Amino acid sequence: MRDNEGMPTPSPTVNTVLPIGPHAVQPPVVLAPMAGITNAPFRTLCREFSGGKGLFVSEMITTRALVERNEKTMQLIRFDATEQPRSIQLYGVDPVTVGKAVRMIAEEGLADHIDLNFGCPVPKVTRKGGGSALPYKRNLLRSILREAVSGAGELPVTMKMRKGIDDDHLTYLDAGRIAVEEGVTAIALHGRTAAQHYGGTADWDAIARLKEHVPEIPVLGNGDIWSAGDALRMVRETGCDGVVVGRGCLGRPWLFADLVAAFEGRADALARPTLREVAGIMVRHATLLGEWIGDESRGVIDFRKHVAWYLKGFAVGSEMRGRLAITSSLEDLRAGLDELDLDQPWPTGADGPRGRTSGNNRVVLPDGWLKDPHDCAGVGEEAELDTSGG
Ligand SMILES: Cc1cc2nc3c(=O)[nH]c(=O)nc-3n(C[C@H](O)[C@H](O)[C@H](O)COP(=O)(O)O)c2cc1C
Repeated sequence: MRDNEGMPTPSPTVNTVLPIGPHAVQPPVVLAPMAGITNAPFRTLCREFSGGKGLFVSEMITTRALVERNEKTMQLIRFDATEQPRSIQLYGVDPVTVGKAVRMIAEEGLADHIDLNFGCPVPKVTRKGGGSALPYKRNLLRSILREAVSGAGELPVTMKMRKGIDDDHLTYLDAGRIAVEEGVTAIALHGRTAAQHYGGTADWDAIARLKEHVPEIPVLGNGDIWSAGDALRMVRETGCDGVVVGRGCLGRPWLFADLVAAFEGRADALARPTLREVAGIMVRHATLLGEWIGDESRGVIDFRKHVAWYLKGFAVGSEMRGRLAITSSLEDLRAGLDELDLDQPWPTGADGPRGRTSGNNRVVLPDGWLKDPHDCAGVGEEAELDTSGG
C-alpha cells in the first residue's frame, strides 16, 4: 500500500507541537470540520491512519440546536471512546446563545476543545448576516468570542474563518486581532473569500500575513492541501503553525498516514492503496457509520455520498458506480465491490483536487450590511438554521 515515489522531502523543523490549550497536537495536522462528513466514524478512520496523532474536529453543530438539546444534534456530538481530545465545532450568531452552548459543553464535559465557525459562504446564511458575513461586524464578532471564551472556562476556544466577504471587504486581519484580544487560543484561516466559495486557488499569502499580524497565537493554514507535500509546503511558505485539511481527505482517510509521516520526517512512503484495499476501507467506513447510527441500512445510505470519492480515478464503469451509490445494505455493498477488478493499483489520476470546486458567486448580504463595520447590528437566529458548511 505504500510507495516511496513522490514522497515530499521533510524538513526537520515542521514536526513542531501545536498547542491547543492543554492539548499538544503533534504533528500539527488537523482534520477540517466538514458538515455531513467528519462525524465520529470518519474521524475514527482518519485517526486510525494517523496512529492517533493530530486533531480531528467534529462537523459543525449549531449553538441554538445544542442549547435546545435537539435530538439529532445530541446524536451528532457523540464521540468514539478512542477520541482524545474531543473537538466540537460550533456555529452561532447570537452571543448569548453561543455563551450558553459553550457553558453547556464545559459544564457537562461534552468536549475538550471548541472551535467556532465563521466561514460558511452559503447564501441562505450570509443573507441573514451569518457565516462568513458575520466577521464584517467587528463588535458582534467580539461579543461572540468574549462569551465563548468566558463560558468555556478551561476549555480552549479556537476560531475558523475565511479571508472576508470578497476582495473589497477583507476581514481576516481585524478578526485575528479581535480573537487575540478576546483570548482565543488559535485561528484557522481558509485562504478564500466567501465570494470564492471553493473556486480558484486558496491564497496562502493571506495565511502568511495573518501569521505576521497575530504572532501571539498559533495560526493554522487551510485551503488546497491535496497531499502531504502540499502540507509541508504550506508550512514552509507561510510560516503557519499547523495545517487544516478538508477535501483532500474525502474518500482518502489514509491521507492522514501520509501527513504524519511527512511531518515526522519519515520518508517511508505515500499510501497508495490498491482498489482491493480501498474496497476494504469503504466497507469499514460504512460499517462504522451503521454502528454509530445504530442501523446498518441507514449507515450504508449515509455512506453513499462517499462512494464516488473513494473510487475516483479507478477504472469502474458508470453503471457499477451508480449501483454502488444506491446500496442499502453491507451485503450489497460488498457484493458490488467484489465484482470490481480489485487488483488495480492506485491511479495517479486520483491525486489532486476532489470534492467541491465551484466558486465566484456574488455574496448575498442583508440590506445595508456593508455600510458600517462597527455598528452593533445583531444577526437573526434564522441565520443559524439548516446550515451546513464552511
Ligand atoms: C462538504 C464540506 C463541508 C464543510 N463543512 C464545514 C463545516 O461544517 N465547518 C467549517 O468550518 N468548514 C466546513 N467546510 C470547509 C472546510 O472545513 C475547509 O475550510 C475547506 O474545504 C477548505 O479546505 P480544503 O481545501 O482542505 O478542502 C466544509 C467543506 C466541505 C467541502
